[in-house]
Amino acid sequence: MLYKFNIVLLLLVSLFLCSTNAKIIDGAKHSIRQFPKGFLFGTATASYQVEGAWDSDGKAENIWDYLTHNDPCRIKDCSNGDIANDSYNKYKRDVEMMRELGLDFYRFSLSWSRILPTSFPDKINEAGVQYYNNLIDELLKYNIEPIVTLYHWDLPQKLQELGGWTNPHIVDWYVDYARIIFENFGDRVKYWITMNEPREICYQGYGDTTMAPALNIKGIGEYLCAKNLLVAHAKVYRIYEEEFKPKYGGLIGITLSGSWTEPESEKYAEAADDVIQFEIGIYAHPIFSEAGDFPPIMKEKVAKKSATQGFYRSRLPEFTKEEIEMIRGSSDFFGLNHYSSNVAYKNESINFFDEPSSNDDLGVASYKSPDWSSSASSWLKSVPWGFYKLLKYITNNYNDPNIIITENGFSTYGGLEDDDRITYFRDYLDAMLDAIEDGCNVTAYTAWSLMDNFEWMQGYVERFGLYEVDYSSPDLTRTPRKSAFVYKNIISTRSLNHHYEPDTTVMSIDEGH
Ligand code: BGC
Repeated sequence: MLYKFNIVLLLLVSLFLCSTNAKIIDGAKHSIRQFPKGFLFGTATASYQVEGAWDSDGKAENIWDYLTHNDPCRIKDCSNGDIANDSYNKYKRDVEMMRELGLDFYRFSLSWSRILPTSFPDKINEAGVQYYNNLIDELLKYNIEPIVTLYHWDLPQKLQELGGWTNPHIVDWYVDYARIIFENFGDRVKYWITMNEPREICYQGYGDTTMAPALNIKGIGEYLCAKNLLVAHAKVYRIYEEEFKPKYGGLIGITLSGSWTEPESEKYAEAADDVIQFEIGIYAHPIFSEAGDFPPIMKEKVAKKSATQGFYRSRLPEFTKEEIEMIRGSSDFFGLNHYSSNVAYKNESINFFDEPSSNDDLGVASYKSPDWSSSASSWLKSVPWGFYKLLKYITNNYNDPNIIITENGFSTYGGLEDDDRITYFRDYLDAMLDAIEDGCNVTAYTAWSLMDNFEWMQGYVERFGLYEVDYSSPDLTRTPRKSAFVYKNIISTRSLNHHYEPDTTVMSIDEGH
């Protein structure tokens, strides 16, 4: 009898534990969560992805014009950004959409070759400057804060022919460009981002073929690019700090891309950390760590491999002491673009062709779990807990910085009923709120993207927009997706409610916007 009673008790206890556990795991989804006071919301785009007008009013060719015109079908749908969303002419409609959403800020980037057609400061294209003045003034008219990225991947083609980011002279060229930007727009723009995603610029553009200029000079190109880019970033930071900040009082920082890397099992914890060092640490360690410089493990691994491969020096270039000091601390915030996560395990035999590469230097392989829900992009699966872990990692390893989420978003193949995107946004915002509750200093969130746009090598196939763009309509009509209504509700209530069902019949501008 006692034995039977014990079994029933055990069953009851485990039933109770199961149900409370489920409640804990699912708890947040049943309640409405408030965002911290002062937390800001925005959306983002980038010049080449939306502006179009590729050769209008004196704009010169950039590396994406060059790549798409000379090798069109390198892009999935053989398309290009010649017209894109024609934001060069339709920026007022873009700002109207931002007002519909009730955004606090809009993050966009400037086109170097639109402002400086020769690439250099000898000739300033007034029409290009006027376009950005118009956009900035339109934003400010409606109290939408402009967050401006100086460089989002569209290098002037002429500078590429001079070696692009592998030529150390680019530091001066970039500084000249930045100075002209600050002189022209610094009175109204208070948030600056020097570079968008150095890793994608260098690793994909110089060490691979997946971004322009698609040089594929593995194990060398991406490291030279990384060094010059960091020096250029820091020099511009210091110039802003000394010459413009006292006058205008703005903030300037960098945006890094970062996936979370989870070890496949406990024994791969070190391998997973090495991935983070190679992907994020390569840029974050020089800027945000106490010691500065490239991560020690990276220096060690690349030097070792280089020596065994017959190089006379490490393929990872060295910084001077002065450069280390100049770069250290050169960001007022940690701009983070985060989309997804990976699982890693140690694998020393990546080097099939006996050629150097940064993947071979790293000696770790990674993959995405088939259990994670998919988007339209092969590299993007939904892993909200990875976002939480990455935010904690950044907080713990890089001096508890002010983190601004400068991009986060989900791709589909189009359509207005984008429930998968809504689920993604909600789950990621939930994870971000968990991280904030657990001490991370995250102060703003940016949804990628305001609207569909030219998704680089994927052309117009993969869609990231809160607004759908109809590329077959002469007007490039923008229509809010269901996710736009949900994001609007999040912003207006400053809260996250997983069960909110929007009325998607009319999108309007609320009072005060
Ligand atoms: C880039 C965007 C891009 C987005 C989605 C980010 O890495 O900054 O330009 O469209 O990811 O792929």
